[in-house]
Amino acid sequence: MVGQGGREHAFASALAATADVVVTPGNPGIAGSTPATATEIDADLYVIGPEGPLADGLADRLRAVGRLVFGPGADGAALESSKAWMKEVVSAAGVPTAGYATFASEPVQRRAAHAYLETLAPPYVIKTSGLAAGKGVLVTDDVASAHSDIDAKLDGTAFGDAGRRIVIEEGMRGPEVSLFALCDGRRAVLLPTAVRDHKRVGDGDTGPNTGGMGCVSPLADVDRAVCAELGALAFEPTLAELARRGVDYRGVLYAGFMLTPDGPRLLEFNVRFGDPEAQVTLPRITNDLALLLAGAAAGELSDEIIVSDDAMVCVVCAVEGYPAAPRTGDVISGLERAREVDGVTIFCAGVGTADGQAGSGGSLVTGGGRVLNVCGRGPDVAAARDRAYQAVQHLHWPGMTYRTDIAAAEAAATAGGNR
Ligand code: AMP
Ligand code: GLY
Repeated sequence: MVGQGGREHAFASALAATADVVVTPGNPGIAGSTPATATEIDADLYVIGPEGPLADGLADRLRAVGRLVFGPGADGAALESSKAWMKEVVSAAGVPTAGYATFASEPVQRRAAHAYLETLAPPYVIKTSGLAAGKGVLVTDDVASAHSDIDAKLDGTAFGDAGRRIVIEEGMRGPEVSLFALCDGRRAVLLPTAVRDHKRVGDGDTGPNTGGMGCVSPLADVDRAVCAELGALAFEPTLAELARRGVDYRGVLYAGFMLTPDGPRLLEFNVRFGDPEAQVTLPRITNDLALLLAGAAAGELSDEIIVSDDAMVCVVCAVEGYPAAPRTGDVISGLERAREVDGVTIFCAGVGTADGQAGSGGSLVTGGGRVLNVCGRGPDVAAARDRAYQAVQHLHWPGMTYRTDIAAAEAAATAGGNR
């Protein structure tokens, strides 16, 4: 397992049901973490968690030496590392998505970007084409901020090279939903459950976008039938378009949709599981996950994916100052007690040890913006949510922050068990 966050912790736990797992580099909160690099490890299957190494061609390098890899090559990973290319591919595939135009930083294009913005109605949407850890998208009703964001991105001041090419999109409104499919190059097999992420840092969806402050699955407004419809709109057509372009895509496709009054529209593709979406999804898959991923990696994915009807809610505990200026190095307390809460699993994301030594047995300290993923599981969303927040009460470090409204609307919508 390649990666070091909560998603990789969830992956490693689920894979450990049937496989021996090592995690590179992992973190001090994940059993089996090793400083050895992927290419130094001899494994039957390599599962790559984050987009960075995928975009960087790690899957290609491993396949070049005959390894079985779950995760796309750099060509397929461009669906996420180049939003401009993603929009072109999905438009060619006939997937419904917002109207858009792309611009580079040359003066002519910059002027065209400002002019294009003036033709649009709010909300205004300005995206870095390149990778920006989930933070490269501005959505605003204020046209002046949109104009200055165009310049900040194209200048490279806001996001470096990732912003020197931008995508400006028609703004849409509506609830969002994420869906996942496993792909073997030819087939895409849907995970028949929808996930909702809470991307803004503050309660009531306020403040800047983050990598994700919590999530919930399943959703009352996106049942299995709707999942199948949305999946059919996005996954198979895109996989076919990729194949037509010579891209043999083996790994996860993550589709983010907005459910607009005019119908569903694809917002984005990611080339990996969501973090923390994986944390509420992988534990509910009842198939042998290692076999499933190995099948996809080998180009012979045959099984349907079975997901438990249980609900899961993940609350992310983050550090003071996240996402702008995270403060780290504080001792985490209450982890053992929090883990004792019935139905609760805690995945470690941004953690370190006080002495910097992985596996030293010393207490964990905060090591990144999003520190712990507190996941409650139960028969419905309300029960899962209660359990997650019960466990959060046991956790402490100076400046620990979390959203108090994760899955609140979804719990209310499913109250009474009519999920
Ligand atoms: P993305 O990384 O492309 O999914 O964008 C991040 C977030 O920005 C999405 O989850 C939406 O909340 C918002 N967003 C992206 N594109 C649009 C759009 N065309 N209209 C309205 N909101 C959008
Ligand atoms: N939680 C959003 C993402 O992983 O992109």
